[in-house]
This record gives sequence, C-alpha cells and structure tokens, in this order.
Amino acid sequence: MRGEFQLDTEQGGRGCPWRFLALVVGTLALPAMAGDNIPSTGSGIYQAACASCHGADGRGAPASLVGFSTPVPDFTDCDFAAREPDSDWVGIAYEGGPSRGFSELMPAFQGVLTVDQVQLAVDYIRTFCTDDRWPRGELNLPRALITGKAYPEDEAVITTLIKTEGRGSVLNKLVYEQRFGPRNQWEVVFPFGWLEIPDVIDDDGTTRWTSSVGDIAFALKRAVYHSAEKGTIVSVAGELIAPTGDDELGFGNGTWVFEPMVLWGQILPADFFFQSQAGLELTADKDKAENAGFLRVALGWTGTTGQFGRAWSPMVELTAGREFAGDATIRYSVVPQMQITLNKRQHIMFNIGLRAPLNEREIRDTQVVFYFLWDWFDGSLFEGW
Ligand code: HEC
Repeated sequence: MRGEFQLDTEQGGRGCPWRFLALVVGTLALPAMAGDNIPSTGSGIYQAACASCHGADGRGAPASLVGFSTPVPDFTDCDFAAREPDSDWVGIAYEGGPSRGFSELMPAFQGVLTVDQVQLAVDYIRTFCTDDRWPRGELNLPRALITGKAYPEDEAVITTLIKTEGRGSVLNKLVYEQRFGPRNQWEVVFPFGWLEIPDVIDDDGTTRWTSSVGDIAFALKRAVYHSAEKGTIVSVAGELIAPTGDDELGFGNGTWVFEPMVLWGQILPADFFFQSQAGLELTADKDKAENAGFLRVALGWTGTTGQFGRAWSPMVELTAGREFAGDATIRYSVVPQMQITLNKRQHIMFNIGLRAPLNEREIRDTQVVFYFLWDWFDGSLFEGW
C-alpha cells in the first residue's frame, strides 16, 4: 500500500526544511496520486493516508520523521480520543485542520477521499483506544440551560438569570467542572448576583440594589452506564450546598442542602436528543427550607451550517419542582432556548432562552437565561477562532 498516496518523509536530515517541503508537496500532490487506488478498508486508508504523520500505531510519528514540531495527537490516549465525536474528526480530516482552528499541517482530504472513506479511516482510529470505560464524545449532548448533563465534563460555564418583571434580580452562577478517571467529574458552583431591595426608594425615585455571593456548592458525578450503540448515558451525582449566601436578602437557602440525583442523556433518531435530571433537595433545617423534589427534561435537535460547520441546537425544557410540605403545588416552567457554537473549534458556546412559569404566575416571574460555556480541554479561550 505504501506509495499510493503516502507522503514521502524519508528524505533529508533531522529538522531539514526540505523534509517539510516534501511533506507539503506530498500533501498537495495527494489528489494526483489517489485515483482509483484508494484502499477499501479503514485500516488500508489509514495506513496509506494518515499513518505517515499519525504513526502506524496511532501514537503519532516522531517529529524527526514528520519534519515538524507541532505535536501530533496520540489516538491511543482514551482520555483525549474517546471524548471527540466522529463528526468533529471526520470534519477535521475532510476539511483540514484550519477548518476547526487546528494547524494547517493536518491536511484536508476533500477531493482525495470521500466523506465515507474518511469515516472508515476514523472508524479505524477508534480501535486505538482499547479501554471502553471512557464514554464516547457522541454522548456529550448540548448543555441545556437548567437540566444537568449526564456526561462527565471539563468545562467552565457562567449562567446568568435576569428577571423581566417584578422585583429586579440578576443572578449568576459560575460552574467549574473537571473530569477524573474515565467516568467521574467534580464541580464547584459559585453563585453571585444583584437583587433590588424591596420597598426602598431613593429621593430621585430609583430603587436600591444589593449584591452578594450565593450558596456555594460542590458536586461529584459518575457515569454508571454508557453505550455509544444505544446512544445512552446515565449518571448519578450528589451536590452539597453550603449556606454561604444571605438568605434574608434572598441570596441563599439559609441551611445546608444535599441533592442526590440521576441524570440521563439519550440520542434520538434524526439528530434529536433527550436529557433528564431527577433529584431531591434534602435540607438540614426545615424552618429555613423544606425538602423538595425536582424533575427536568430537555428535548433538542442539532443542525450544522454546511456539512461540518457551526452547530445550532434549539432545545425546550420542562421543569417541575415540589416541596414536600402539606398542600404545596408542583411548580412547572417551560424553557425554550437556542445554543450555538461561537468559534471554529466549537469549544466555546452560547445559549439563550426564556424561563417562563406555567403556573402560580402571580408569585413567579419570567426570566431571561443565558450562558457562556468553555470546554477548556479542547483549547484556551483564544484558540480555535
Ligand atoms: C501531513 C501530516 C498529517 C497527515 C497525512 C494526517 N494528519 Fe491528522 N493531524 C496532523 C497534525 C499535525 C495534527 C494536529 C493539529 C493540531 O493540533 O493543530 C492532526 C490532527 C488530526 C486530528 C485532530 C485530533 C483532535 O481532535 O485534536 C484528526 C482527527 C486527524 N488528524 C485525523 C487524520 C486522518 C483521518 C488522516 C488521514 C485520512 C490524517 N489525520 C492525516 C497531521 C496529519
């Protein structure tokens, strides 16, 4: 197979510019060499088209062989490989590194290989990670505004809720999530915000606002079941919320709260997906806050601009919560929203929606909710634009 459209990297000495040139020329010459001689198996395509840089074993050919110092990813490293969905990888290999904000040293195979052939090569790359404890990136469904995700993440999210009616309120929640091991994640939640002080009106007729931190929380999550074939991921999590916010002013519960929960993500046909989160809020001091239960579900769909471009995910959530006290009613809200990826690498996202109460509207107000999300494992905030 070697020589079909294998890049010639054997010429010249270590770090020699000719070697790099040979590589570039080799890449440009790919269409001329391809013709009808493209292997029919994933392994054949990989060995012919990808192995010169990525190594026959997927670990990346040594810099002395490839002639450039840009690190080539190690496809045997499940921590990196499992989390990248096929759509990203096929897109990168078909349209080239720069299409996703990566190096131009990763060539575009468009014109040489069909999308199906690139998919075969990517299927073969998948065999390099042999530890199936790592949930596949396909199961990493778009994050909804309220409903939690089952997939363990490395990301930072700042969510803002602004009331559109009633007492003024701007509340933010900074969430930092980090994976550990194949299936686990820890996270810290740091809420802060501004609230209008009721009934205090200054001489010039304006109301006064106060700011404070809210109840800081720490959570652990573990994926207990995942299957790429079934498109299913299920996790259990526990969150401990400390009474660090001022409950008199409305910034906190005024008591410790423990929230055990179950999270479920499901890929549906035709690019639809479903996520749900069900849990309990168990409070330490019943005078401050009653125990409660909640259920949140999100239905969404993802489309892209072009075949591999920017992702658009409209979603709608339905949330229900009820205090376990006497005749408390179930409070329902609906949350229509739209998530978009902001940059080429698609690791920075924005989501905006409206959280509208469906009942008890006299005492519950509508909020505008939005977040900025940064999947920090995929690159810094300034990379990949
Ligand atoms: C000329 C050398 C070269 C060839 C040939 C090559 N690659 Fe790459 N590839 C690279 C480099 C360099 C990177 C790293 C780019 C970066 O990190 O900016 C890369 C990155 C990738 C990534 C991105 C991984 C990620 O998410 O970070 C994928 C997927 C990939 N290559 C697939 C392929 C496939 C499939 C083929 C064959 C059809 C192939 N490559 C052929 C050099 C090459």
